[in-house]
This record gives sequence, structure tokens and C-alpha cells, in this order.
Amino acid sequence: MISEKLQQARDFEEKYLPHVPETERPKFHVTGAIGWINDPNGFSMYKGEYHLFFQYHPYSTSWGPMHWGHVKTKDFVKWDRLPVAMAPDQEYDKDGCFSGSAIELDDGRQMLVYTGVRRERQEDGLIREFQTQCIAVGDGIDYEKYEANPVLTQMDLPEGGSAVDFRDPKIWKEGDTFYLVVGNRPADGSGSILMYESKDGLHWEYDGVVAACHNQFGLMWECPDLFELDGKHVLLTSPQEMIAMGLEFHAGNGTLCLIGEYEEEKHHLRREYVQAIDYGTDFYAPQTLLTPDGRRIMIAWMQNWETSNSQPRNIHCFGEMTLPRELSVKDGRLYQNPVREIENYRGVEIAYRNVMICSETNLRGISGRTIDMTVTIRPGNENRMYNWFRINLAKDGERVTTIRFKPENNTVRVDRTRSGFPHDIVNVRDFQVRSGQGEIRIRIILDRHSVELFVNDGEQAASFMIYTPESADSISFDADGHALIDVVKYDLVID
Ligand code: FRU
Repeated sequence: MISEKLQQARDFEEKYLPHVPETERPKFHVTGAIGWINDPNGFSMYKGEYHLFFQYHPYSTSWGPMHWGHVKTKDFVKWDRLPVAMAPDQEYDKDGCFSGSAIELDDGRQMLVYTGVRRERQEDGLIREFQTQCIAVGDGIDYEKYEANPVLTQMDLPEGGSAVDFRDPKIWKEGDTFYLVVGNRPADGSGSILMYESKDGLHWEYDGVVAACHNQFGLMWECPDLFELDGKHVLLTSPQEMIAMGLEFHAGNGTLCLIGEYEEEKHHLRREYVQAIDYGTDFYAPQTLLTPDGRRIMIAWMQNWETSNSQPRNIHCFGEMTLPRELSVKDGRLYQNPVREIENYRGVEIAYRNVMICSETNLRGISGRTIDMTVTIRPGNENRMYNWFRINLAKDGERVTTIRFKPENNTVRVDRTRSGFPHDIVNVRDFQVRSGQGEIRIRIILDRHSVELFVNDGEQAASFMIYTPESADSISFDADGHALIDVVKYDLVID
């Protein structure tokens, strides 16, 4: 049964989608049909295709009562739009169908697990939000909410757990048992990730606390994801209200990756290493899936709550996802690289080897806003290290987006101060890289208004949006001192 609210959202999309100019959208990154999107949800395989849902408010380019938008793909590059999957149409989710996940059931149906949000005025006059976990089951297009929803409520929380901050379940199955991890706020007011298990996906039992924040990395931990990778266990989560720590963690809504050993009996992750996931300004709430060929693929919202109010005027859609990335753990750290399928869309190759850069230089054929480019940099003078090397992107007479590497302290700075923003938002970010002796490799994926960097074959990633008009497509290289570079660039051709 399709509710009136869901039908209304589907009709709205159908009516207004034709008015959204294609030039407003990236060529191969997921956007909503219209309106606002945030977190990726339900990123999973279903009937041989990859499905992605997302937090969606079709009616404006601002966050509002959350629906679930829906797309699917065979190769993570070309996506098909599907009808809106869920609307906040029940008493227990009337104020939003918040983030969650999806899984294929043995009987061929697809199950969605999400957070239902309901606001209520309290005796003291304040409005409080209640968050519970709910189920919907469907055929890949239409979903029916379970009649006994919610399936996890405050009754299922460990002592001291918060009914207000209890959200974003990520489900998976091992043998004949379903598991899920979900964010919560224990009595210390910061975040924790709880685990539950179930035989049917409907009745759940509490297992324990997988990891807790103890006020160390921000407060509430949102959008957890737990998986095994290269012999380790990895927990991804997105903490709110982080305090900046060195160059590793910036303030505000951050991203956190805990790597360690999973203690099966205690359902607990013994952490060995902690790092940020992405070092750019626009990355939040990542979620992963496992492909049939064993790759762990991650996608995230390529935005951040801190800056998502800065929007260009007169747009129809706001928010997009990152390019899906292949994850691995090497030397105890998380690595990420663009999904290999993007290479199938590479057009003509333009390559240069051993070009000496000592002042601003343009290379013939190196330009564009929908490209896959790798720049390998090394010192050009044996006796003297260069002071900095810079890549200027999306450049015209007035505007430029820069990526600067300083070998002296091994830092990369991304700077979008002159990238078309009408507001003075967070525009500059520095991060530490592990290269040495002035050598570094930077792969850059541009898709119109997005920039994704992958440093040293995936050791670090940094994502950010720019609003520079697409006509600004010049690229140049610059150095203070002498740097020797190789450049390989492909246009990405997606029709
Ligand atoms: C993260 C988040 C989630 C929540 C959703 C609401 O960005 O705050 O915790 O489920 O967004 O849209």
C-alpha cells in the first residue's frame, strides 16, 4: 500500500524532475531527483544490482521531514533513478525516516532497517525527539512498513542509554543470524555503538557495546558501519561536535575510523588505530557494501552539516554522494581508491613525463572539469628541496581551487577560498601525509563541482565541493623551487 504522503512525494518528483537542468547535476555522482539529500542509506546488493537509498527532502533544498530516495546501479558509475522508497507516514516515524541500511532476504525480498523519529511535547513544555528502529520490506521498488514497528525501542537499550539519540542501524548477516550496529548516547553524554542480533530481522536481542566514545572523539556517534577487512575489523562512524585535534580531526561533524581486533564473545572492538576517514571539507556519514568479488565499497555524503547552508542561488537539487571507493587496510591504516569501474569511462589519455616545474605552467591538453588525473611529484633539484608545489584547478581569470604540497612538513592544503562561494564558510583544510623526501602522488577526480583527492595510492582521501562555473576549466602547476612531475589525465566520458 502506497500512503498518501509517499504518493505525494512520487508525484512531486514526476512533476518537477523535467524542470531540473541536467547541467546542474554531476555526470556520475548520485544526486536526488530534486530538493535536498544527505546520508547514503541502504547501500547494498539486491537481485544482482547495487541499490542506494538516501536521506531525502524533495520539497526544498533544505533538510526537512526525511524520506528515502532510491537509485540503483550495475557499476557504481551510471545510476538509474527509482521512485521514492519511503515517506514519514506512520505515527512512529511521522517526523522522519532517518538513516539506516538494507539487506536481501532469503525469500527474495529486500528489507530496510531505519530510524523512525517522532517528536513529542514534554511536561516541561520542551519538544523531545524519540528515535526507534523500524523495518520495511519490499521488492526493490515498493516497501511495506512492518505492522509491529518499531522493532527496537528504548526498552532495548542498556541502562543509561538515550531514547533521543538512538539511530542509524547498519544490518548484515552471518550464517543464519542478522546483526546490526546502531548509534546511541550512554549516560556519559557522548557516543557509543551498540550491537544487536536477530534470527528473523524482526525480534532483536542486545549483544553489547562495540565501541564507546567516552567523550574522546566528539559526542554522539552517528551512522556506524562495522566490517572485517584484510584481517582486521573496521568501525566507521561520524561523530558530532568534535573538537579539532592536530591536523587529523577537524572541529564539528567529523569522520572516525577505528581499526582493531574484534572480540567475538564480548562483541567488542579492541582498537589499535584511530584515524579520520576523509580529510576534505565535505564528507560525512559513509556506508559500505561488500561486492560479490569481495570488495568493500564505501560511499558518503559529499557535504557537511557545517557548510551545507551555503548553496548557490536558484538551484533545484542540493547534495551529492562521493564516488564509491574501494577500501583496504594496509600497515594498519585505512586506504581508499576510486572504484575501479570508473576506469571504463576514461577517454583519451594525455600524459607527460619528467616536466620540470619552477613557475606557473600550463600543459597542453591538461584541463577540464570531468576528469581523472594523477600527478606524481618529486624534487627537481638534487641540492635543494622545493618549498611548495601547487596544482591550480577549475581556474579562470578570477577563480581558482588550489592543492598545495609542502615537503618540509609533509602537509597538503586544499583551498577553495576563490571557488565561487557566496559565503565565508570553511574553505581551507590542511592535512598531514606520509610521503617523504618531496615525493608524493595525487590522483584527482573532478565531476563538475566536486573534487576528490587520493594521495599516495589511497593512503588518504580529501573531498570537497566547489561552485566555480564550469567554464573555469583551466589547470596549471606551480612550484617555489624545482619540482619534477609526471601527469596522466583522462577525460571521463559518461553519456
Ligand atoms: C547524519 C544524520 C543521521 C540521521 C540523519 C537525519 O547526517 O544526522 O544521524 O539519521 O542524518 O537526516
